[in-house]
Amino acid sequence: MEHKFKKIGVLTSGGDAPGMNAAIRAVVRTGIYNGLEVYGVKKGYNGLLNGDIIPMNARSVGEILQKGGTILQTARCLEFKEKKGQEQGVAMAKKFGLDGLVVIGGDGSFKGARQLCRMGLPTIAMPGTIDNDIDCSEYTVGYDTCLNTVIQAVDKLRDTSSSHDRCSVVEVMGRGAGYIAVEAGIACGAEVVLVPEYEYDFEKDVIEVIRDGVKRGKQHCIVIVAEGVGGVVEMAKKIEAETGMESRATILGHVQRGGSPTVRDRVIASQMGERCVELILKGEQNKIVCMRNGHISDVDIEEGLAMKKVLSPDLMLLAKKLSV
Ligand code: ADP
Ligand code: F6P
Repeated sequence: MEHKFKKIGVLTSGGDAPGMNAAIRAVVRTGIYNGLEVYGVKKGYNGLLNGDIIPMNARSVGEILQKGGTILQTARCLEFKEKKGQEQGVAMAKKFGLDGLVVIGGDGSFKGARQLCRMGLPTIAMPGTIDNDIDCSEYTVGYDTCLNTVIQAVDKLRDTSSSHDRCSVVEVMGRGAGYIAVEAGIACGAEVVLVPEYEYDFEKDVIEVIRDGVKRGKQHCIVIVAEGVGGVVEMAKKIEAETGMESRATILGHVQRGGSPTVRDRVIASQMGERCVELILKGEQNKIVCMRNGHISDVDIEEGLAMKKVLSPDLMLLAKKLSV
């Protein structure tokens, strides 16, 4: 197929997420399929600034589909938030002859992509983050794998909590978003779920719920707390002091970001990566590839960044109903 694009780059930025490798592979291989040369940009926007840019071929993305993390590595690059850094990035892309760029990351990375577009480098972004907090997309690559890691850990915590009649207070990731917390809460049968999006009253929403559970015959309980709410160690102490139920706090931390991606993450990453290349070939730019109504779709980056995702109150209510 004849088109004006010859060379494109791909980078991963922000926090890594399982499935990023599947996305890189899809960009490289669908790019090659369409006659493009594809370059990998190392360590997010850092590599773009510094010219850490390597040629990729079909073999360089072999054996990576099943691996967590990102073979291109990732970074948080403060210099790129400044105009000077962005200009340096565009100049470097020109030097390497890149006609377009695919950015895989979260909303911070999307803001960087928007700047590149504004400065004349056609850029397409796709969501790769465990948080599922991208406003314009129902799904972000990495979320399913992360949730599976969380539920395995919480199931294990339940084994020991029930053996000791204890309360397990578990912090999961999500600084500003409670998706991991609420869906893990539903999947693990947590008695209490606390997220940054909804205010809570410690006495009513935690202590009373635990006491009521004990009255109804529950002898142990699980409290899931999103990172953005925090304070699990103090919380466990207070629960023990006020309910008499021995309590332990666990912070799951970065274990949630690793691991071999699930089928869902591999397939969606592959589809989204393919869509990124298709958009570039069509001469589109300034777009976010996303999932809408269950299908791979895309939105204008300005529009996408202006949207506000609401954590479903129905999910929060379901978690509560199921804990009776
Ligand atoms: P995520 O992409 O996962 O949300 P960050 O918010 O840390 O992660 O953003 C990743 C990187 O994107 C930052 O380190 C920076 O290089 C770039 N970035 C973030 N915000 C902006 C911005 N407003 N303008 C330009 N680049 C940005
Ligand atoms: O955005 C993904 C995420 O894992 C968040 O859930 C978490 O708050 C943050 O990244 C942790 O970032 P870092 O890797 O810098 O500790």
